[in-house]
Amino acid sequence: VNIRLARVEDLLGMQACNLQNLPENYTLKYYLYHALTWPQLSYVAEEDGKIVGYILAKMEEDVADGDEPHGHVTSISVLRSYRRLGLAKRLMIQSQEAMATVYKAAYVSLHVRKSNRAALGLYRDTLGFTVKDIEKGYYADGEDAYAMRLSLKHLV
Ligand code: ACO
Repeated sequence: VNIRLARVEDLLGMQACNLQNLPENYTLKYYLYHALTWPQLSYVAEEDGKIVGYILAKMEEDVADGDEPHGHVTSISVLRSYRRLGLAKRLMIQSQEAMATVYKAAYVSLHVRKSNRAALGLYRDTLGFTVKDIEKGYYADGEDAYAMRLSLKHLV
């Protein structure tokens, strides 16, 4: 499985992967907005031309007064039969490095369901994210989100 930068022609494959893996879905226009605005931040995992995983990422656009520029992971997922191979970890690290080097991101943020054990394992245990906040009822079905962060200052 090959990890490489996402291109515009990958976006339908990324959207298909997202629809199989997550209840949080996005318009194709929103994928295109990511790819055109931050072309260095989104990556795909590909095998024989098929998208088997992706990370859709951006820089935060509404940076509050006193806050630093930071990246945000909009969505990441890996098809079921390709999990536990280290693909999500590789996708996260590639995007984090680009956030820091291309955009001088001080940290990366994301939201995750409180019940998402696999993703929490990836973020907290493997990558070192910490929980910054709990956002009550963040998801459409009412579940709370952990707002998580990881400093990228050592990479900038
Ligand atoms: N249970 C516990 N820990 C896990 C699990 C799991 N099922 N899966 C991964 N981890 C942790 C482990 O520490 C793992 O390291 P190890 O395999 O050496 O023990 C580490 O994460 C790295 O795992 P990867 O193999 O890189 O993760 P994978 O490629 O399997 O993808 C992902 C993880 C993306 C969470 C996958 O399970 C998935 O697609 N889930 C459904 C979609 C999803 O929940 N996406 C995240 C939503 S939040 C957001 O998008 C910002």
